[in-house]
Amino acid sequence: MKEKLVEIKEAALAELKNAKISSEVENLRVKFLGKKGELTSILRGMGGLSAEERPLIGKLANEVRAEIEAKLEEVTKVIKDKEKNEKIANEVIDITMPGKKNTIGKRHPLDLTLESMKEIFISMGFTIEDGPEVELDHYNFEALNIPKNHPARSEQDTFYVNDSLVLRTQTSPVQIRVMEKQTPPIKMISPGKVYRSDAVDATHSPIFYQMEGLVIDKGITFADLKGTLELFAKKMFGDKVQTKFRPHHFPFTEPSAEMDATCFVCQGEGCRVCKGSGWIELLGCGMVHPQVLRNCGIDPEVYSGFAFGFGVDRMVMLKYGIDDIRLLYESDMRFLNQF
Ligand code: DAH
Repeated sequence: MKEKLVEIKEAALAELKNAKISSEVENLRVKFLGKKGELTSILRGMGGLSAEERPLIGKLANEVRAEIEAKLEEVTKVIKDKEKNEKIANEVIDITMPGKKNTIGKRHPLDLTLESMKEIFISMGFTIEDGPEVELDHYNFEALNIPKNHPARSEQDTFYVNDSLVLRTQTSPVQIRVMEKQTPPIKMISPGKVYRSDAVDATHSPIFYQMEGLVIDKGITFADLKGTLELFAKKMFGDKVQTKFRPHHFPFTEPSAEMDATCFVCQGEGCRVCKGSGWIELLGCGMVHPQVLRNCGIDPEVYSGFAFGFGVDRMVMLKYGIDDIRLLYESDMRFLNQF
């Protein structure tokens, strides 16, 4: 038994010396000192010893245990220290490493153009109004003199949420909402997104931007419309810009017109941007139809007004010479970084 105890001690000390990680040390503790360990099983056999032998072997067993325990403690401390130092070394922050670059976003060309348009109208005393993009058929069509079977509906086919709810095809419904809520004088613009069920190509997008304008007061005439929109064109494109009005038809204005401006690339000479004509179509406009005023509870015998609507994407494309509307909606940084 004595030899066996010495063997256990030597084996334990030798194996502990080779241990490299704390889990190995723990395994050795269990193996030699644990309840089912080697030393414990020797001590269990002590019952069979003679009365003289028992205290001697008992003493030796205690010494062996003490020695193994001391070694365990020593090895554990060394390994724990080593592991701690390794952890610290691994977690060290390299303050010489270059930082991550913070890229700051840019304004979208649509946003930039909208802002300059808004600034011009604000300087003329217009307010800015907002309307929902999911709109009642009533506001988007009916109240604007576009009943169910009107041909203008096929030009402005859209996404129907249900029979009475559509994605608005124009910002014109904001005219109705504002006239219902406010009493004249009204002088507002309303920029925003509109939707049409158009197939995507270089000049069509199912989503695009418009900016509506509406002025209602006593004694408003076509001269006010012309003066306001001509001033806008000059502020937007420069003093040399000339404008002309062509008769047109919109169901919610009477008379209606489209306004062209002299091409700001060639000043009217004729170039690629204006397709050789010297003129660029900027917007639709007209005197608010008396029926539309009546639809909103405004007496056309007392009040009159004018309205206009821009395609903002078109303005952006003309301004920057962009030949494909898709570029405005694809979020391609190679394109956007140019502004
Ligand atoms: N809403 C028309 C469109 O989308 C544009 C328009 C034309 C707006 C004439 C107006 C207007 O306010 O008076 O084609």
